[in-house]
Amino acid sequence: MTASWGTLGHLWNKDVAIIFIRPQRYTKEFVDESDTFTLSFFDDKHKELSYLGTKSGKDEDKISNVNFHVEMVDGNPTFKEAKEVFICKKIYVGKLEKEHFLLPEIYEKNYPLDDLHYVYIGEITDVYSNK
Ligand SMILES: Cc1cc2nc3c(=O)[nH]c(=O)nc-3n(C[C@H](O)[C@H](O)[C@H](O)COP(=O)(O)O)c2cc1C
Repeated sequence: MTASWGTLGHLWNKDVAIIFIRPQRYTKEFVDESDTFTLSFFDDKHKELSYLGTKSGKDEDKISNVNFHVEMVDGNPTFKEAKEVFICKKIYVGKLEKEHFLLPEIYEKNYPLDDLHYVYIGEITDVYSNK
C-alpha cells in the first residue's frame, strides 16, 4: 500500500523507520505476520501510488493492475520500480491511544471512525538503491 505517514530516525542506538498503519489495511495483515517490513521509495512522478493508496489488495491484484513488479530481496517483497528500498526488522508495535492525544483536534480531525493507527518501529537493516 502507499504510505506517507512516518519518519526516519535514530532510536535505541539503531537507525529506525517508524510507520503508521490503520487497522483496516490489508497490508497490516502481512506486516503482522512477518518479522520484517519493507519500504519502497519512488519519484513523485509515479501516478501509480494514488491507485495503490486508494484500492485495496483485498479486492483486486492491484500491483499487477498498475504494472508494478514484486522483486524478492533476501526473502522480502520489494518493488522493482522503486528508486530506493529499505528492509526493516520489526522491533516495536503498538496502537495509538485516544487518551494520549494532547490536542483533541488532532484526534477529531484524523480519527472520525476511531480507527487509530498502529505504530511499527523497524530497524533499518539494509538499504538498496536502483541506479
Ligand atoms: C498518498 C497516500 C498516503 C497514504 N499513507 C497512509 C499511511 O501512512 N498509513 C495508512 O494506514 N494508510 C495510508 N494511505 C492509505 C492506504 O494506502 C490505502 O487505504 C490503501 O488502499 C490500503 O491498501 P491495502 O488495503 O491493500 O493495504 C495512504 C494513501 C495515499 C494515497
